[in-house]
Amino acid sequence: MKISRTANSVDKSMTMAITARAAEMSAAGLDIISFSVGEPDFATPPSIVESAHTALTQGQTKYGPAGGIPSLRQAISDKLLRENNLRYTPEQVVVTVGAKQACYEAIHALIDPGDEVLIPAPYWVSYPQMVKLVGGLCRVIPTHQNDNYKLKPDALAAAITKRSRMLILNSPNNPGGFCYTPQELRALAQVLKQTDIVVLSDEVYEKLIYQDTVFSSFAAAAPEMFERTITINGFSKSYAMTGWRIGYVAAPIEIAQAIERLQSHMTTGPTTFCQIAALTALQNTAEDVEQMRQAFAQRAALIHQRLTNLPDVTSVPPTGAFYVFPDVSLWYQRLGVAGSVDFCQRLLTEAHVACVPGTAFGCDNNIRLSFAADIKQIETGMDRIKTWLAKYA
Ligand SMILES: Cc1ncc(COP(=O)(O)O)c(C=O)c1O
Repeated sequence: MKISRTANSVDKSMTMAITARAAEMSAAGLDIISFSVGEPDFATPPSIVESAHTALTQGQTKYGPAGGIPSLRQAISDKLLRENNLRYTPEQVVVTVGAKQACYEAIHALIDPGDEVLIPAPYWVSYPQMVKLVGGLCRVIPTHQNDNYKLKPDALAAAITKRSRMLILNSPNNPGGFCYTPQELRALAQVLKQTDIVVLSDEVYEKLIYQDTVFSSFAAAAPEMFERTITINGFSKSYAMTGWRIGYVAAPIEIAQAIERLQSHMTTGPTTFCQIAALTALQNTAEDVEQMRQAFAQRAALIHQRLTNLPDVTSVPPTGAFYVFPDVSLWYQRLGVAGSVDFCQRLLTEAHVACVPGTAFGCDNNIRLSFAADIKQIETGMDRIKTWLAKYA
């Protein structure tokens, strides 16, 4: 069977692959600690579940408008103004099948074959694949641990070419666990001022911030970029709603309309009763969200403390999302491994701890640990990593 060049060019998600392997080992009876998952380990708050249930019993099971149901588009527009100081009309908001689809459609709407997309590494695994899917070219910009893996203005300026059409920013960051400050966002915007580059700002981990971190939406920090920013967010991470598949994009009207047109042919629109549940999430769950945030904050502190106690492992304290991204490369030679993939395979096989190789995110010196796991699992997993490394010290 001939498979298209486009489909063949896309890699299978490495994060999903390691999660699947860990699940297989668990199913075979092995006691696996998984730090590989990319979703909250909490249940969806009950008021959200109840609202979907009511919507179902009331027959909200038909096609909805392609861009999302009007009440949710309005509520998202209100939220963006209230919480982020961003003024988008409901028509500028398109509800999508998760933030993943929002990212893909935004790239699809703006990128032609040969256009270049600037992606700082570490990056979320799907961005480069999405760019490939539309025939775009990725220009990956490396960052440094000394800068907490954040993109610096001079590195951005040096990476821009005549073909650069879009910059993807993700804060709070997967896998880096960092957050850009408003000043840092403004400094990046300053570089973009002289260009016509559009920023895709993926803010899906907005509510998961720790220590004294202040979240700022890119277009709010740099209002002069509002007309060239696509703001993306969703319900998966903040409201423990990964399986509901509801996200959204807010953008200048021309872009929003283009995305809505694409979506009308791709999915018809997101699931109707899940959108009603998402409306409840926005209205009625502040306490649930805060409880989950506090639990994540405690785990962030614990896992970081445990990592700093490992010899020859360096790590930045997580201030957002639910990931840490330590540099473990000093161990490669001692273990006799070529890079992060081998490291993670050995760790899983020998110590029964699942982590994701940093190469999936463009940084082969690192591994990603998700702390969407309870305190006991974190303690046990870190004990195992410590004992395992000690064998090769
Ligand atoms: C940075 C980032 N953006 C977007 C998504 C997609 O989220 P959703 O479940 O809303 O599609 C993820 C999920 O892992 C993510 O990590």
